[in-house]
Amino acid sequence: MNRNDLCWCGSGLKYKKCHAAIDERIARYAHEGCDVPIREMLKSRAQIDGIRESGKRNAAVLDEVAARIRPGMTTAEIDRIVDETTRKLGGVPAPLGYQGFPKSVCTSVNDQVCHGIPSEEDVLEEGDIVNVDVSTIFGGFYSDSSRMFLIGQVDPEARRLVEVARECVQRGCEAVKPWGFLSDMARAVSRCAEENGYSIVREIGGHGVGVEFHEDPWVGYTEPAEQGLLLVPGFVFTIEPMVNMGDPDIFCDSDNGWTIYTDDGLPSAQWEVTIAVTDNGYEILAW
Ligand code: MF3
Ligand code: CO
Repeated sequence: MNRNDLCWCGSGLKYKKCHAAIDERIARYAHEGCDVPIREMLKSRAQIDGIRESGKRNAAVLDEVAARIRPGMTTAEIDRIVDETTRKLGGVPAPLGYQGFPKSVCTSVNDQVCHGIPSEEDVLEEGDIVNVDVSTIFGGFYSDSSRMFLIGQVDPEARRLVEVARECVQRGCEAVKPWGFLSDMARAVSRCAEENGYSIVREIGGHGVGVEFHEDPWVGYTEPAEQGLLLVPGFVFTIEPMVNMGDPDIFCDSDNGWTIYTDDGLPSAQWEVTIAVTDNGYEILAW
């Protein structure tokens, strides 16, 4: 690319004023054998503005769930709240119809790890812990975040699991910085879980996000053997570790092909953020 050409990222700036220095730095890491991001993983300022706008709505949908969730409510009611609130805010729920997913949100209760399908049959009971995983398309941009909710009085053990799962994500975010590595984040997350006696699901991870719902790369959290992808400003992805009270092993419900459960029947907790690598650290675009 010529230094006076318009930058490939679509910023409208000359290449030399935009991604030239970053590209040179990436090339030096690649030369040393590092795993470096491809261009599609690096969002322009305008794309990040779009993902942020999407993420604000995603968080507002979760705020609405937080205000209304209560014992006796079905997970189908949560689905209706998410669908209606998302559309009222001008967005579209990304899960609906995604690879055949039948609802607008994932609701995963107790030993359900993720991808629970909302149902009129599933009533939230006092003592349940539930993950509500919301993903929004707004203005063509995708955001993805989830939170745990405590239903009524929850026993201290399950409450601690929920708190630690949140701390895992917080620590993961704090490990994100430009010219660091994805393994810094993974290590921070897995250490937090292990220090607390918990395990992290190995098979399911986070992902690049923004222009599509699920973009490369796949993002794991278990103690990494390699340094993983180089973190570069403009890289947007999710941190969404599933933290199990017991063993990390899981299975998929063969009846619906979606819902993941813990093998040992013990509870699992998950929080999810959409995060961007910035020039001097990170920005959470949705939580
Ligand atoms: N929101 C989930 C994630 O964090 C993806 C769910 S796929 C769906 O990546 F189809 F189940 F919605
Ligand atoms: Co996600």
